[in-house]
Amino acid sequence: MSGLEDATRRAFLRASTLSCLVAASASGLLTLRPARAQPGVGNSQFAADLEVQLHATENHVPILRGEPTRVWRYDGKVLRGNPGSLGFLSHGYLPVLRVKRGQKVRIDLVNELPEPTVIHWHGLYVPADMDGHPRNAIATGQHYVYEFEVLNRAGTYWFHAHPDGHTGAQIYLVNGKPDFVLPVATRAYRLRILNGSNARIYKLGWSDRSPLAVIGTDGGLLEKPAMRPYITLSPAERVDVWVDFGSRSVGTELTLQSLAFDGAMAMGGMMGDVPLPNGASFDILKVRVEQRDNTKTSLPARLVPLPALRPQDAVNVRNPKVFNITMGMMVWGVNGRRFEMNGVTRPETVRLNSTAIWEFRNEQSMMLMAHSMHVHGLQFRVLARTIQPDFRSGYRTLAAGLVDDGWKDTVLLMPGERVRLLLRFEHYAGMFLYHCHMLEHEDSGYLVAA
Ligand code: C2O
Ligand code: CU
Repeated sequence: MSGLEDATRRAFLRASTLSCLVAASASGLLTLRPARAQPGVGNSQFAADLEVQLHATENHVPILRGEPTRVWRYDGKVLRGNPGSLGFLSHGYLPVLRVKRGQKVRIDLVNELPEPTVIHWHGLYVPADMDGHPRNAIATGQHYVYEFEVLNRAGTYWFHAHPDGHTGAQIYLVNGKPDFVLPVATRAYRLRILNGSNARIYKLGWSDRSPLAVIGTDGGLLEKPAMRPYITLSPAERVDVWVDFGSRSVGTELTLQSLAFDGAMAMGGMMGDVPLPNGASFDILKVRVEQRDNTKTSLPARLVPLPALRPQDAVNVRNPKVFNITMGMMVWGVNGRRFEMNGVTRPETVRLNSTAIWEFRNEQSMMLMAHSMHVHGLQFRVLARTIQPDFRSGYRTLAAGLVDDGWKDTVLLMPGERVRLLLRFEHYAGMFLYHCHMLEHEDSGYLVAA
């Protein structure tokens, strides 16, 4: 299994630019280590199984040939618990935390950047003050101590910076693997792919147009594999893909590409002279079959049971809450309101332990472009999409790749589209964000608290 894990971990790197990720996996042993450095002060009542110190810091890593590249990254170490819980990919550039459900985790963030920062645990159920709301950003030299129990099911979650107005700039980096070639053997792999780009939508497809078997989305495994001719992945979304190279011969090369599509920018947008606009095709990574391996694994027809989608459980089954994406004074907003650090409106207030239907609509703004809607602190289900007739031709170029199955925390909303979601508010009360994950939209005042 270790080869598989290794390959899968590397596979997403070239697929996206990203900061880092946290994977809640069902594996991983816990070994306790008494050694403790000097962490920030946490809650002495919280008995952490895993204690990690992360430094948001500037340093140099070898990414391109020649001189090392100056980057902002998370460095860190495990202070208590399994030292293997924290790993680094791409020459130390990308941190990966492996945690398991039920584990109590303490993370001491030290800000060594020259500006405020805070970490958001994208997709995880955590208390509001542990969720990385921009109002909790810390100044240079300060610590923020996160303490939470891992409640989510196994899946690929990720963590990233979330300070107001600087999220895009702090996350924007390359992925650390230029011209990446993934060596594989003639067997099956599970590839975990995260779109960590600021604003790029990927239409992932193989150069020989083989279909892709999706086995997981944002919040973990699907009920059954979903076959797609290509996969449409918007910023912050994740997919787990099952790929079997068993019928390929040694020496075969395959390229994972982002294929051409239209419609992400429908109206009023200023394209300017972008070298690689959203929708242009390009190569992401190359897979080279290097070895024979006769291990036969077949993809099960059923993966895990998921609770049924029951819209009738919603408090507003006949009356979905509508959130229109709007723009005023060149600043993005929701229902005409821009982000307020502490302000919440009545429709944005929900009851703990309730289920509701929300509908995001992308049809009223003077500038119609694709958005990637994310809700903090929960996982939702996608109930329905409707696209207005005028927008169908662009939409058709990527619609077959949408994967709305399973538990999600981020969803693509195309121009002229309505997306209806079923959300369950549970575990923690408090102020959580929902916003577009196109980070420049987010930074231009798009965050609204829920
Ligand atoms: Cu990954 Cu508020 O975001
Ligand atoms: Cu947006």
